[in-house]
Amino acid sequence: MTPDKDIDGFVMLLTRTVAQRRLYGADHPKVTTSCRDLAERLATFLQQTQQDSLFVGVADGKLVYDGRYLIGPTIAGGQLIQLARKLNCGGFVLGRHAGADEFGRFLALAAERRDMPADLAEARELLASRGLKRISLAAEYRDPVAPADGAQLAWDGQADDGEDLPSPLLVYQALFDVVASAHGDALQDHVLDLDGTRAASEYLLRIARSSFTDIAQLVNYPDHDTYTVGHSVRVATLAVRVGDQLRLPPDRLLALSSAALLHDVGKSKIPEEILYKPSRLDRKEIEIIRAHTEIGAEILLEQKGASPLDLAAAYGHHLRHDGGGYPERPAWVVRHPLIALLQICDVFEALTAVRPYKSALTPRAAFEIMVGDKGAFDPPLLRAFIRAVGLYPPGNRVRLSDGRQGIVVASGLRLDAPRVRVTHDAAGRHVPDTEQPTIDLYRSGSTVVKLLHDPEPARV
Ligand SMILES: [Fe+2]
Ligand SMILES: [Fe+2]
Repeated sequence: MTPDKDIDGFVMLLTRTVAQRRLYGADHPKVTTSCRDLAERLATFLQQTQQDSLFVGVADGKLVYDGRYLIGPTIAGGQLIQLARKLNCGGFVLGRHAGADEFGRFLALAAERRDMPADLAEARELLASRGLKRISLAAEYRDPVAPADGAQLAWDGQADDGEDLPSPLLVYQALFDVVASAHGDALQDHVLDLDGTRAASEYLLRIARSSFTDIAQLVNYPDHDTYTVGHSVRVATLAVRVGDQLRLPPDRLLALSSAALLHDVGKSKIPEEILYKPSRLDRKEIEIIRAHTEIGAEILLEQKGASPLDLAAAYGHHLRHDGGGYPERPAWVVRHPLIALLQICDVFEALTAVRPYKSALTPRAAFEIMVGDKGAFDPPLLRAFIRAVGLYPPGNRVRLSDGRQGIVVASGLRLDAPRVRVTHDAAGRHVPDTEQPTIDLYRSGSTVVKLLHDPEPARV
């Protein structure tokens, strides 16, 4: 394992532990085990890199290490970033010999709801008063990854009304955060923040057209640890994309996005040992998992602001077109067309995503399975879905027949001929961002020869 991969894994664990600490409290075995892991991994990392401390920066709402954004941890790390904000600091310095116990005391700060310090000096005093010696706060600093001359990054844009659009990375982080919080709140029988879900959905809609390639690249970012959350975000993104191509009006897209984000909220109540069990499930376990649909609907029924579509999505996303699937429904129940779309997105995401127990299928293989499963999906809707997504969905990296590599930016006139932005020449050299041509494979004569599953770091 390289130090670079280690740092991603380490910060991911740190963000996960912040979330766990807020959910479960200090003495929960999940929290104590994670704190021990953090201390051990920090020690190994510092030894390998021969450093005295590890600095994780927070700039403009993103996590930074050594001059680069940590994309996965930033997406999942909303709560760690919030902690930095509360403490008025520009990041965390984790020193040699910071033990599990010190991590525990540090993370307690994330779970506290007390008034936070007015400035950095007060925040540092607070840490000192908790006996924190090896974990300290860094001063605020300028985003080292942002372009120095104020030039706009590729994803920067303006909405029609002239308002700045948020970056896809921050939108994805917000989506991730609302789903993770909804699952955490549901687990603890707290009220869900449905306004937050709608607000994040609005952002998704606003950037869905202009920056879809960028967000789709992030969506492809593997997240082995939190895949129920990542899955829900990917299903919502896919549903909005396809819904937009089917020309659904904005209010329907918004409702669809919120419903998709919450569709698996019932899984929060399913024991993790069953939900994430890597081996085959027995009949009893399958029944327990299947209950997430009814549990999800019950959770949403308790919420004041839940829409009928939210409820229908949670309840009905595993119902098949031919009446099969689960839960068992009375004969008079009719599926809403948006739930039929959600069901397609749900299955497609599950087939094309990486899971600890399986590798990702290509879209082509996923479509073959879905088309072959007669009666499972609404046929015209499945055809429209396949046309909208294409064999090479936007955001995927591909190798072309002439040796060049690029990122799919849109589906094309033929399923197998998307539009591609060329990022690497035939010799594998990176083409500067401002000079990357976008080619239409339908016209250019090149074809895609391979879908590359290891995305280069997204330009965020
Ligand atoms: Fe589900
Ligand atoms: Fe799902």
